[in-house]
Amino acid sequence: MSTATLRKNRKPARLAKRQEPTMAEQADLHALYQESVQNAEFELDFMEATFKEWTGREARSMREDFCGTALSSVEWVKRHEKNTAIGIDYEQSVLDWGRDNNIAKMNADQLSRIELVNANVLDVETGKYDAIQAFNFSYWIFKQRAVMLQYFKSLRESLVDDGVLFLDFFGGSECYQTQKEKRKLDGFKYVWEQADFNALTNVMQCYIHFHFPDKSKIKRAFDYQWRVWGPSEIREILEDAGFSKHGLYRQKFDPKTDEPLDEYIMTDEGEDYACWLGYIIAQK
Ligand SMILES: C[S@@+](CC[C@H](N)C(=O)[O-])C[C@H]1O[C@@H](n2cnc3c(N)ncnc32)[C@H](O)[C@@H]1O
Repeated sequence: MSTATLRKNRKPARLAKRQEPTMAEQADLHALYQESVQNAEFELDFMEATFKEWTGREARSMREDFCGTALSSVEWVKRHEKNTAIGIDYEQSVLDWGRDNNIAKMNADQLSRIELVNANVLDVETGKYDAIQAFNFSYWIFKQRAVMLQYFKSLRESLVDDGVLFLDFFGGSECYQTQKEKRKLDGFKYVWEQADFNALTNVMQCYIHFHFPDKSKIKRAFDYQWRVWGPSEIREILEDAGFSKHGLYRQKFDPKTDEPLDEYIMTDEGEDYACWLGYIIAQK
């Protein structure tokens, strides 16, 4: 067979169909995270009001541990012309994203009142602040009591004399089991997965996934391995670290529907809701 015949009989190569990038491929992970997980406005309202209740004055300086994209620090500085913030995270790429997207929108005066530090919160040395926040349960990455104690002691050192520490918290039977929870947001679905729970160590493996209307997905966009601490354990460690006063603010529930409300009250009543959110507050 001649090469001419071969060529003639060969089917024309099908032109590769140009694939449009999927929604998952085009998505910005940190933007999705901020939209689905964070509510800096609500958290800062809570911090401002509680700080005033506990100290009788306004908080002006704030340290944000595990700051990620520094969304909360940026919002804090924008709230008042005398507010200052320092954000600490050990992942340079997430700090860079925060600089390019959140900090880039600040004016010169606001820029002069914010600082981002690439460091491990366990051994960073900072000045002293009115308020410190460690939110989104990030401090649960410390799984040993001795390490948590070391962390709380260093936080206490970084507070002014009447300074207040804000930690968030969740509890209820659902945090001791594997489960998936989906939430529909504008243009994507947020999926929270508690993929594994060790009933002996209380160590939980969690993931955040994002699903899009074109069926594309970002699986395991973020992963966390936390020890699920009990509120009394954390409060005892705060006492051992030298904090003079502490309290637990728990999410309220609608008495008729049992739906959670965006309202937190200081309480030691622990009705047995399957899942509740809260804050533990401690004063130096
Ligand atoms: C769940 S994100 C929290 C982001 C934000 N603060 C929030 O409330 O959603 C956790 C962040 O903590 C950072 N991180 C984890 N361990 C850290 C450590 N020991 N020191 C500093 N940053 C840490 C990670 O790089 C990540 O950006």
